[in-house]
Amino acid sequence: MKQRLLFLGPPGAGKGTQAQRLAAADGLLHLSTGDLLRAEVQAGTSLGQEAEAVMARGELVSDTLVLAIVRSRLEQHRGGWLLDGFPRNLIQAAALADLLEELNQQIEAVVLMELDDAVLLQRLLARGRTDDNEEVIRHRLTVYREQTAPLIEHYRALGLLTPVEASGSVAEIEARIRSVLVD
Ligand code: AP5
Repeated sequence: MKQRLLFLGPPGAGKGTQAQRLAAADGLLHLSTGDLLRAEVQAGTSLGQEAEAVMARGELVSDTLVLAIVRSRLEQHRGGWLLDGFPRNLIQAAALADLLEELNQQIEAVVLMELDDAVLLQRLLARGRTDDNEEVIRHRLTVYREQTAPLIEHYRALGLLTPVEASGSVAEIEARIRSVLVD
């Protein structure tokens, strides 16, 4: 299986769920910027204090802050990785490309998880994280369309995009993802 992966898709598409399963089964580093930011909020660090209100509104935390988190993790890691929720805009994508060039590494595939808004909304309302109320979910979707969705064309043009239908059971979706990641 390919070893250096990005997971892209709207909130609730199942990026975290699938990334966790694949990373655990294949010994990859699962790096979720959302999880790392929530851990900073929980720990009450200055970074967490800066991020908390932004996350509660469903907007993107500053690129500088997120990039620092990703850089420190990737610099220390040897072996495969799976980035979940990062990059989130074209600036982050350019910074990631620079970092990977520095580390002499390359993205091998970008998995785009696609799902209808109605199903996304249903899944997130059922989860009930602090940023999972209807108003904030709709705003996260708008932010996704405006800032993150341009990455689809960006990675398609680089020949890295692998779209996957993200409806069905967790096991069915995992099998679909695995089938497109065969080396
Ligand atoms: P982040 O944590 O990345 O949230 P998100 O992108 O909104 O994604 P979600 O976690 O909501 O969805 P997911 O696709 O991972 O789905 P999941 O597997 O959890 O970001 C949160 C915030 O942090 C952002 O708004 C921003 O403020 C900040 N942030 C993060 N990264 C950033 C960055 N790079 N730059 C700037 N700011 C950043 O599944 C969702 C639910 O559905 C779960 O309950 C799950 O159990 C369920 N589920 C999953 N699969 C299925 C299935 N097949 N069937 C039924 N239920 C399912």
